[in-house]
Amino acid sequence: MLPAHRIFAAVDTTGTEEASALIGSLAGSVGGIKLGLEFFVARGPDGIRAAMGGTGLPLFLDLKLHDIPNTVAGAVRAAVPLAPAFLTLHASGGLAMMRAARDAAQDAAARAGVAPPRLLAVTVLTSLDDADLGRVGQAGPAADQVVRLAALAAEAGIDGIVCSPAEVAEQRRRHGPGFVLMVPGIRPAGSDVGDQKRVMTPREAVEAGADYLVIGRPITQAADPAAAARAIVGSLS
Ligand code: C5P
Repeated sequence: MLPAHRIFAAVDTTGTEEASALIGSLAGSVGGIKLGLEFFVARGPDGIRAAMGGTGLPLFLDLKLHDIPNTVAGAVRAAVPLAPAFLTLHASGGLAMMRAARDAAQDAAARAGVAPPRLLAVTVLTSLDDADLGRVGQAGPAADQVVRLAALAAEAGIDGIVCSPAEVAEQRRRHGPGFVLMVPGIRPAGSDVGDQKRVMTPREAVEAGADYLVIGRPITQAADPAAAARAIVGSLS
């Protein structure tokens, strides 16, 4: 894979014009764009279309779906016309929910004549520690729960997971080369860590086995986002 294709810029905003300007400036310098709940709740599918414009960049639609199988399948079907390259759901929604999502993605994509989105499972939110997991009745430690939920996602035929840099090497070892590992928590050497606790550089994460890197503020808050993205891409080759 070309180094640039590994980088998804996280555009975390509610403003269509701001998102659109940023995405337009990044075309040609990154592999794709991540838009998540914040933007989607504010602007909806039309906002996504407007923000992506004619860039042709792959879209990572980070909706973290979690509901009963029928409802998640319906949401996946509704998202398919946006032709996202990647779409997220919570593995803790269970095997039947993930299978329903997978089947809906295949079915809706065939009907629409587009490629199905690759579904990525969120295992344990990195904002939860072992004590938090205990309070919601999930057996910890968190690292074990990540392993269990990633295995469940694989069993359901989900394409991969979103995982922290700390989990990449073990997940690659467990699931082999075909399982997509999409990795946030990335900071170029010497950059501001912000609220991310466990970070890796882009190069370290790829060497550990990451396929794709989700990078927000080091790109979006830079004086020249496209130049920041190109520098990151340069660090990978
Ligand atoms: O600005 P920064 O590079 O920290 O942004 C990373 C992106 O990845 C954000 O959109 C954030 O919501 C997302 N993310 C994360 N950590 C996770 C899951 C998602 O930072 N565990």
